[in-house]
Parts: sequence; C-alpha cells; structure tokens
Amino acid sequence: MYSKPKKIGNLEIKNRFVRSATYEGMATEEGHVTEKLIKLYKELAEGGVGLIITGYATVQKSGMTFDTQTGVYNDDFISGLSKIADTVHENSQDCKIALQISHCGRQSRYLENTIAPSAVLEKLTRKMPKEMTIEEIRETIEAFSQAVRRVKEAGFDAVQLHGAHGYLINQFLSPYTNKRTDEYGGSIEKRIKFVEEIYNRSVELVGKDFPILIKMNAVDFLEGGLTIEESKKIAERLSKIGYAAIEVSACMWDTCKRSKKELGWKPTFLPESRTFVGTKNEVAYNLPFAKEIKKVIDIPLIVVGGINSRDLVEQILTEGSADFIALSRPLIREPDLPNRWLKGIGDSKVECLYCNGCLSSLITTGLQCVKKEPL
Ligand SMILES: Cc1cc2nc3c(=O)[nH]c(=O)nc-3n(C[C@H](O)[C@H](O)[C@H](O)COP(=O)(O)O)c2cc1C
Repeated sequence: MYSKPKKIGNLEIKNRFVRSATYEGMATEEGHVTEKLIKLYKELAEGGVGLIITGYATVQKSGMTFDTQTGVYNDDFISGLSKIADTVHENSQDCKIALQISHCGRQSRYLENTIAPSAVLEKLTRKMPKEMTIEEIRETIEAFSQAVRRVKEAGFDAVQLHGAHGYLINQFLSPYTNKRTDEYGGSIEKRIKFVEEIYNRSVELVGKDFPILIKMNAVDFLEGGLTIEESKKIAERLSKIGYAAIEVSACMWDTCKRSKKELGWKPTFLPESRTFVGTKNEVAYNLPFAKEIKKVIDIPLIVVGGINSRDLVEQILTEGSADFIALSRPLIREPDLPNRWLKGIGDSKVECLYCNGCLSSLITTGLQCVKKEPL
C-alpha cells in the first residue's frame, strides 16, 4: 500500500511517505540557503521519500523563531531556494518537495519583541507578545501570500503553511491564544479568517493549481485550547476553502509546562515530538485524532508523530486512517528509510530511538542524529 502513488491536488506523489517539516539550523544568519542545506535535501531525495516538506522558513523577519532559520520574506531568497528545489528534482526518481512557511508569533527564541493575536504570556520563554493591530494582520497575510508566490517561483512543487505547534496560524485558530473581539477572533469562523484570507490571496498570486497544504493542531493539550471537536470543524472548513492536504499534529510550546498527571504522557521541550515512543510513550500518538479528522475532510490527510515501523505504516494505510505517513526524526537517523522499507530490507522498526538528541544539534552542527546508541 505504501508504494502506491496518490495525488495531493494535481500533484502526484510516488509513494505514501512524507518527510515532515524539520527545522535544520543550517541557513546563514541572514536566512540564505547554504551548501549544507542543499546536501541535506539531496540525501533525503535519494532516500526514496515521496514528498519532502522542508523545515519552516519565515515569511517575515518579525516571524523568526531561531537564528539560522531559512527566510522567504523577500525576492532575494528565491535564487537560493531554487537550488534546493532543483537539486531534489535532479537527484531523485521523481521526489516532490514543498517548502514549509511560518511566522512564529509569540513563540520565538530569537526575537525580544513578539507579536500575536492577543497579549497572552508565552510560558516557556516568559515573553509577553504585543497584540497585533489590524494593519499588522493584513501585512502578515500579505507576507504569507507573497512567500507562497516565491516558493512557486523558486520551483517547489507545493507549499505547506505551518498552522500547528503554537506558531502564529495556530495562535489565530486557538481560543487559548486568540482572545480578540474583532473580525479575527471569537467564533471558529472568525478565528479561521486569518488562514482563509492567506489562502484566497495566495491563489490570486499563484493560481488554483499550485498545492497549498497546511499542518494543524488537532488538540493543543492546553486548558482553553483547541479540542478535537473544534479542530474537526476547522479541518472541514479548510478542506472546503481549497487547501490541498491537511497534516495532523498537536501541542504548543506552553504544553511542555503541563504535567504527566494532567496529560497522561510526559511532555518535554518540543512536546509535539514525544520521546521514546514504543517504550515510554505510545506509538502513532496523533492517530486517534487523525481518524476523527479524516471523517470530515475530502482532501488527503497526512498523519505524523511516532510512527515507528513498516508494519504500523501498512496498518494505518490499509485501514484508511490516513492517506500519507509523515516522518521527521526517523529520517534524521535514516534518510534512506523509505527505500529500505520499499525494498523490504532489514527490520520493520525504525532505527531512531526518539531520544530528541537531534534537538541539541540544531545549535551546534545543524540537524543530525546525535545519540546513535541505545540508552
Ligand atoms: C529537530 C526537529 C525540528 C522540527 N522542526 C519542525 C518544523 O520546522 N516544522 C514543523 O511543522 N514541525 C517540526 N518538527 C516536528 C516534526 O515535524 C514532527 O511533527 C514531530 O517530530 C513528530 O514526528 P516524528 O515522531 O516522526 O518525529 C520538528 C521536530 C524535530 C525533532
């Protein structure tokens, strides 16, 4: 089943494996593409994955989460980005690539002054964001849409909006972070308006055929945050608006301040990437939510999070719980995992231990698997 091609919009993906967006820490301080970044994507393309989604690239300077994050906020970035797209297209058997684009809103390690839909204290960094004015909201919608145009001009096959993990789009969608009383806050319809306007404006710039995907939270795991009941309504609406596929994930940075007692699982920094799945934590931990969302959308669904074996992939696809399987950490350790599985080589299990040692590499060497030996 996982070797069967399937379309996202008009784009045919050669198999059901997606590389989930993974920040690389490899751009220059100004956000430009480096040889290291190009090499990373060449290796992934050669490894057999059907669709690569890059680490998040910021649509505005005021949207940066980390330094050495790729930028896509002016036309000067296009030529560097096109080297990634070209390399992937030249070095693979038809691997497709999407750039993930984001704005950090209230979640930034890099910025001192952050902006957000509402002034709600960010618990991890203890930064209090400034509530965005309507003018700033409109500028940011335009920035996202112009970034979509640049992604297309750089030769990518698609774009994915980062609407999960507590970043700006998630902040608009979630009642935990969106306390606005104007047209961008309140009811679900009003909280969706930000991401609806990004879609409509982007289509004006790139046309309807360029696939615009979105990654969203099914739940924030926060009191007063998104619940599966609400996110189902959001997903249904996003599929009607025209988004080409939805990737289902969960959590904000604030989630890591919650306890195991409250959640039933122990959150650590980057709570969307649960540690030691298969031993200390459940495998495929977003699957129950994905199944719920799958019921209400008529576009492809991508599920991510702790999918740690070929057998599990086959089971998820066969039972129709998702159309694509996304992997992040397993492909840091084994970029050629899709080929290994497709050729039936070796163990059904991934080699990744889900130890999150890779997080430390982001500020030292750039993305790589750090803890290679079982603990
Ligand atoms: C080092 C690292 C960087 C990440 N960067 C991003 C990112 O840029 N955008 C994003 O949507 N998710 C990001 N994630 C989350 C992953 O895409 C994925 O949702 C999560 O790790 C669960 O999938 P996995 O169990 O296959 O790793 C990152 C995860 C890790 C470990």
